Amino acid sequence: MEPMDSPLLEVRNLSKHFSQRGGLFAALARERGTGVIPAVDDVSFDLHANETLGLVGESGCGKTTTGKAILKLMPVTAGRIRYAGRDITVLSQEEFRPLRREIQMIFQDLDAALNPKMRIESVLREAVLLCEPTLASGALQARIYELLELVNLKKNKLSSFPSELSGGEKRRIGIARALAMRPRLIVADEPTSALDVSIQAQVINLLRDLQSQLGLSYLFISHDLQLVELVSHRVAVMYLGRIVEMGPAERVAHAPRHPYTAVLWSSLVEKMSREGAASSVAPSAWGVFDFERPTEGCRFAPRCPVYAARGRPAQCTDASQAPRLAAADGGAHVVACHFPLPAQAGPG
Ligand SMILES: Nc1ncnc2c1ncn2[C@@H]1O[C@H](COP(=O)(O)OP(=O)(O)OP(=O)(O)O)[C@@H](O)[C@H]1O
Ligand SMILES: [Mg+2]
Repeated sequence: MEPMDSPLLEVRNLSKHFSQRGGLFAALARERGTGVIPAVDDVSFDLHANETLGLVGESGCGKTTTGKAILKLMPVTAGRIRYAGRDITVLSQEEFRPLRREIQMIFQDLDAALNPKMRIESVLREAVLLCEPTLASGALQARIYELLELVNLKKNKLSSFPSELSGGEKRRIGIARALAMRPRLIVADEPTSALDVSIQAQVINLLRDLQSQLGLSYLFISHDLQLVELVSHRVAVMYLGRIVEMGPAERVAHAPRHPYTAVLWSSLVEKMSREGAASSVAPSAWGVFDFERPTEGCRFAPRCPVYAARGRPAQCTDASQAPRLAAADGGAHVVACHFPLPAQAGPG
């Protein structure tokens, strides 16, 4: 058993490199002449019991890959993942199986996650039996009802097929299926994407209620900093495979020290992603929003307003001086930037 207040999850120097080319990383891979995409690169963080850590960054920065690595859904290139005090990276899938139940993922793609040919009742029955294979039929039925109640769905949904459910209902079924395993940790990958704003709020409230009811820990993945701030205790900001800033949610959101976090907060990045990386976005106050190739050193430099304003300091693109996470405001707030934004007085 792990000591009382040690983290439930410890990720240390996690790297996952792919050999294919594509997306934001293509230029970086070409630059290096290796064809290697460092989708996750030297990422470290802790997650405590009952805590929500938000993982935020634009499309392709490595959020889902980080989540999948924690579930051992893919082999990692380097690094260690300790869950409940055990190094799971050295466990075989067989050895991992008993722990696997405790770590669940709510998958980004609603429709891929549910078998279209299975009624909801079968989906939940299968999940419950996976966790509790010896359950008698009465107890099984009771557990299915209990799961429905946990996610605020009516019993009449049990006879439905996934195609007959709304997006919000499908999401709730996905959550119920994860809960069937009696997890301690849930990797929630964009759990509200593709949902209407009002439904998003319901799903967020549901996840919150479940956290306090069941004592869950969440790694909450989203490209939306506003949403992440709302649900997270702490936030980690990722850019091209690296965490560039991490700290208490309200500090990271309202007193960011990394220029990228400030850009994310201004939602310009989201606008840019929507319009497509290749199209040129109207120059804004930031002025540098063309995708030049990512550089060695700080990967954000080509798009960084501070780098531009300071006349492109050589330090920022020096491969031997890649910025490392260091204390920003003392305590838990850290930033990886040679020229962090000035500290602001914030709450607390
Ligand atoms: N199986 C794979 N093979 C090759 N490259 C991959 C694979 N999975 C992911 N990648 C690449 O790794 C990078 C990170 O992908 P990932 O899915 O983790 O990003 P993400 O932050 O979850 O993005 P999104 O917000 O779009 O979901 C991307 O460049 C992606 O193209
Ligand atoms: Mg993703």
